[in-house]
Amino acid sequence: MHAEADVVIDTTCATPTDIAARVAARLSRAPRSYAGHVDVLVGGQWGSEGKGNLAFYLAPEYDLLVRVGAPNAGHKVRGHDGVAYTHRQLPSGTRATDSRLLLGAGAVINVAILIREIADCAITAERLAIDPGALIIEERDVERETGLKLAIGSTGTGGGAALTRRIEQRGVPGAVRMAGDIPELLPYIRESASVLEDAHALGGRIFIEGTQGTGLSLLHGSFPHVTSRDTTVGTLLAEVGVPPSMLRRVIVAFRSYPIRVGGQSGPMDGEITWDTIAQRSGLSAELVKDAEVGSVSGNPRRVAEFSWAQLRHSVRLNGATDIALTFADYLDSRNRGARRLGQLTVETVEFIEEMEAVALAPVSLISTCFDGRGPIDRRLW
Ligand code: IMP
Ligand code: MG
Repeated sequence: MHAEADVVIDTTCATPTDIAARVAARLSRAPRSYAGHVDVLVGGQWGSEGKGNLAFYLAPEYDLLVRVGAPNAGHKVRGHDGVAYTHRQLPSGTRATDSRLLLGAGAVINVAILIREIADCAITAERLAIDPGALIIEERDVERETGLKLAIGSTGTGGGAALTRRIEQRGVPGAVRMAGDIPELLPYIRESASVLEDAHALGGRIFIEGTQGTGLSLLHGSFPHVTSRDTTVGTLLAEVGVPPSMLRRVIVAFRSYPIRVGGQSGPMDGEITWDTIAQRSGLSAELVKDAEVGSVSGNPRRVAEFSWAQLRHSVRLNGATDIALTFADYLDSRNRGARRLGQLTVETVEFIEEMEAVALAPVSLISTCFDGRGPIDRRLW
């Protein structure tokens, strides 16, 4: 027997799951290497880079759409029906395709907001998986962030306070609730490790959508005007539970003019007004101001000149393979409706060439208008 067997397992000193792991390794027809199955989109500035529409556009190419982070991020997406929807917890590609959805262990969840979004988007329990270890925001977390709104322009949605509790109150019985503890979420609860493994086994492609922007990183941003987590690609992968070796593309998104939320939201070089942008671009000042309120806060945003130093810094921190330029219409209203590079103004093409020179990465996606038909797609992949 021993001589003929491919593998011999001494079951007396192994648990059933140990035995299953060793047997599965021999029987599985999953690919041996998972390299190159994961693409990531992150913000290069202070959030609101228009990642939502980009994620919506790219989503049909993937089998699994993943989000982590908290509902402080609002990702506004124009649907196929032309109607905009702001995602707070679910991936921005949710309404673009019927791909599976995953909220990873690094997700920070407001149950009421998530349940409403699940209903709004008619999501089935089969389609959505939520890691049991995702953190739940409690009412007292929201209350605790009231002061932060004034101090640093926080959205005050309680994510940071919840994460603080997750660390501070380890060992305090009942103090920290996870997604797996919430009866309403039970139909969706599945270990992300097994969801990811299923996706791998089928050779599936995975898309991870970052939230906020590199400039708001707890570690690499302008402390204290930062959010409650690191927002760069390394942490994003860790929060999902995906190793760096699986990465294929890292798309870093930049607006033509970066914004910060209104209020005491921190330093921003070269601050200008929306009127200036309207004047330069030929867009209506009213239209621009109407569009430029926070999708979570509802407050008018601050805006500044494009920062080339920030481009360089964010591209390096994230190891960008691709750049996405959004709001090309703010450079010139004539860029609206352009379907290819050659239809953009000469100055805009020069701007893009300069981005590529500074970033040492191609500008692969260019969005020209929120209500447009999707970005100009120059990807070679
Ligand atoms: P908090 O994460 O809501 O506490 O906010 C911390 C800082 O990050 C504040 O300046 C917020 O305005 C900013 N911030 C948080 N989330 C977003 C976002 O999704 N877009 C833009 N700014 C954000
Ligand atoms: Mg936003």
